[in-house]
Amino acid sequence: MMRALLSALLAFNVQAADLEPVKNAGPYVPSPESVVADMLRYADVNAKDFLIDLGSGDGRIVLTAAKVFGARGFGVEIKEDLVKRANESAKTQGLADRVKFMKQDLFKTDISQASIITMYLLPDTVNLLKDKFKNELKPGTRIVSHDYPLTGWIPERYVQMDLEEKVAISGVTTTLIYLYIVPAKVEGNWTVQMPPAVSRAPATLSLRQNITRVSGSAKIDGQDVPLEDVVLRGDKLSFRFAGRKGEFTGQVRGNAIEGMFESGGSKSAWSAALKG
Ligand SMILES: C[S@@+](CC[C@H](N)C(=O)[O-])C[C@H]1O[C@@H](n2cnc3c(N)ncnc32)[C@H](O)[C@@H]1O
Repeated sequence: MMRALLSALLAFNVQAADLEPVKNAGPYVPSPESVVADMLRYADVNAKDFLIDLGSGDGRIVLTAAKVFGARGFGVEIKEDLVKRANESAKTQGLADRVKFMKQDLFKTDISQASIITMYLLPDTVNLLKDKFKNELKPGTRIVSHDYPLTGWIPERYVQMDLEEKVAISGVTTTLIYLYIVPAKVEGNWTVQMPPAVSRAPATLSLRQNITRVSGSAKIDGQDVPLEDVVLRGDKLSFRFAGRKGEFTGQVRGNAIEGMFESGGSKSAWSAALKG
């Protein structure tokens, strides 16, 4: 992609009809069809999904998601001819009722509707988007990036392969696909109604969060107990109390968590509310 960017910059000639974005996130370099297929497979696209491709080029990712998996969605792109071409393809492929392409700056696009975000953009752009993703996307939204990672985020899946067709694009055969799941916000102190088998008194759960990494402790019956095996995947949280039996699992819904505590084959409910 770097090589393609250099030649694109040398031949830099913005068409009058193209949009001047906040930042040019990279030249038009289409993802090979096999990479598109893998990106959609790793994202586990289905007919209920709404996919947004940031910098949609000829529209291939959104079009394939609609055609093969029945998904809906849109693409945003600064180059007028590419937007036109993608919308024409949607029409000829009978997909215009499910997908559309807009001449729009990806940095200014409302992405809150997405259940899947896809992108093949320059590495610095991918990282400039991290705050936008955290602020606008719902927990559980999948983000698939071709070649470049969101630094600091733990990928749900990470695949590396060699593709001959990438030599012309990036000078090497190496191809990477990263899948991330947007985490819920859990940082803070929570008042917890424990299952009676654990405690009859409310406890406090103190969680620290660094994007996808969560750690913390609980104050239960006057005792501080560290948490272990803490996993946050989208809006699903699970953890254990260090040195004690059983596992807590729960679903985060804004300022509340509802879940189950499972120990020795028996299950009981627990809940938590974020302290104001
Ligand atoms: C590497 S291509 C990827 C095309 C397509 N997503 C794919 O994977 O086949 C990146 C695209 O992003 C577009 N682009 C660059 N900066 C943009 C911006 N700020 N807003 C919207 N599109 C942008 C480029 O014109 C280019 O078509």
